[in-house]
Amino acid sequence: MRFNLCVFASGNGSNLKAIINASLSGRITSRVSLVISNNSNSGALRTAAKYNISYKHISGIMFDSQKEYTKNLLAELKNNKIDMILLAGYMKMLDPAVIRKYRNRIINIHPALLPKFGGKGMFGIHVHEAVIKSGDAVTGASVHFVNEVYDSGAVILQKQVKVKPGDDAVTLQKRVLRAEHKLYPEAIKLFEEGRVKVRNNKVFCTPHPQPLS
Ligand code: GRF
Repeated sequence: MRFNLCVFASGNGSNLKAIINASLSGRITSRVSLVISNNSNSGALRTAAKYNISYKHISGIMFDSQKEYTKNLLAELKNNKIDMILLAGYMKMLDPAVIRKYRNRIINIHPALLPKFGGKGMFGIHVHEAVIKSGDAVTGASVHFVNEVYDSGAVILQKQVKVKPGDDAVTLQKRVLRAEHKLYPEAIKLFEEGRVKVRNNKVFCTPHPQPLS
């Protein structure tokens, strides 16, 4: 199967770039048709422009009410015939109406092995600081379904990353990010191959084996 993807991103957009490259090189057959950011100055929007992909800056403060904002967002998704939403460093909680509409078709990437180091406050460098503090020898990245509660949707695919002696949060973040760039396209491929099934809110996945990186 081939999906029309919408990537939501607030920051650098390196995962967006990895997904676009996977699509251009044929590693995945789906394509990014739309990029949405709440940050007009994001690298993600610049990347979309560079690759000639439709993009929109949509932020809650541009609308009179949450209802108007959500209506606008849903209209963009519909107009672009979006099948799947990928969150990649998107710093806003999606409105429940969007989650309902795209139930089991919204995924996110998180820079740790969920359920560890997820939830409130666990974003960006804070995740890696917490991993270093914990003394864990292995961390990683997770692609998971998005539901109404932060980082709590079922995990689809994970990739482990070693914490090396001498690592600090910054060096670890860089290594995990490199793993994310491989993991996100692999997760999309699982959907394309029909390997992700959801029954009674449980995910059944038949992933390819993941090497330790
Ligand atoms: C990544 O670490 C991702 O796991 C997290 O936000 C970061 C986004 O990085 N959700 P980028 O904007 O894709 O470079």
